[in-house]
Amino acid sequence: MAKIAWILGGGTGIGAALAKELIDRGWTVAISGRRMEPLRDLAHSYGARPYPLDVTDAAAAATVTRQIVADLGRIDLMVFSVATKAVTKTAVYDHATFEMVIDTNLLGAMRVIDPVVTQMRAQGGGEIAIVASVAGYFGLPRSAAYSAGKAALIALAQTMKTELARDDIAVRLISPGFVRTEFTARNAFPMPFLMEADEAGRRIADGLLHSRRFEIAFPLRFVLTLKLVRMLPYPIFFALMRRLLPKG
Ligand SMILES: NC(=O)c1ccc[n+]([C@@H]2O[C@H](COP(=O)([O-])OP(=O)(O)OC[C@H]3O[C@@H](n4cnc5c(N)ncnc54)[C@H](OP(=O)(O)O)[C@@H]3O)[C@@H](O)[C@H]2O)c1
Repeated sequence: MAKIAWILGGGTGIGAALAKELIDRGWTVAISGRRMEPLRDLAHSYGARPYPLDVTDAAAAATVTRQIVADLGRIDLMVFSVATKAVTKTAVYDHATFEMVIDTNLLGAMRVIDPVVTQMRAQGGGEIAIVASVAGYFGLPRSAAYSAGKAALIALAQTMKTELARDDIAVRLISPGFVRTEFTARNAFPMPFLMEADEAGRRIADGLLHSRRFEIAFPLRFVLTLKLVRMLPYPIFFALMRRLLPKG
């Protein structure tokens, strides 16, 4: 029988590319996001099952979880590939922007994870994959809220991996480098090792279906470089980070 995946943020970008990969590999895939149009497009072109949802609404997240189970029977894999495009300005720490970013990128995950874990316990197991980012490896200048939210998602995935093993719920962390999507379209800075979304979708599907490793991170050279940066002594680390600030 076809396995069932639910991809949050599945209407566009990395989530949509992964949805196509999984459908090509025989999965039934439910997709969610706020805008109906991209969900409908992928439903028509690829047979994905659209379930519109705003992850800032906890009651709606629980309702959609129940609806997917009612329609498709179970949830074998949930992928959280959601992020708001709101950006923090350099050296501006206004509460409203932080609230918006964290409410979607971190608390949005919690609103879905809670009912999904309940469902996975009831069905005897499952798999949860959280799309964080290499931007969460350390505090990046020019994107304080995004970087902090992604760092929190990494910690969350690590905790859940340890705690949920006894419920047969596998937890995966997905750490992409730069991928060409709506999300990065506005970036005015150089994006080293920029990858196409379809390639990212393929790598994530391969990692999820053909490996058991906790972290699926790519492209490898970029990931290894950033992991080395993370280990640098702070004086060298901060000297490097200062070079990422806009001039002036
Ligand atoms: N592109 C990159 O270089 C890159 C690198 C590292 C990590 N990532 C991560 O990859 C994930 C996917 O990003 P992407 O690059 O594929 O960009 P994207 O196409 O903009 O995907 C973001 C998705 O989040 C959904 N979304 C935003 N707010 C939502 C909300 N309140 N409720 C429900 N859905 C919401 C969007 O759909 P609606 O607008 O229709 O709601 C959209 O489908 C994100 O977590 C991002 O941080 C991206």
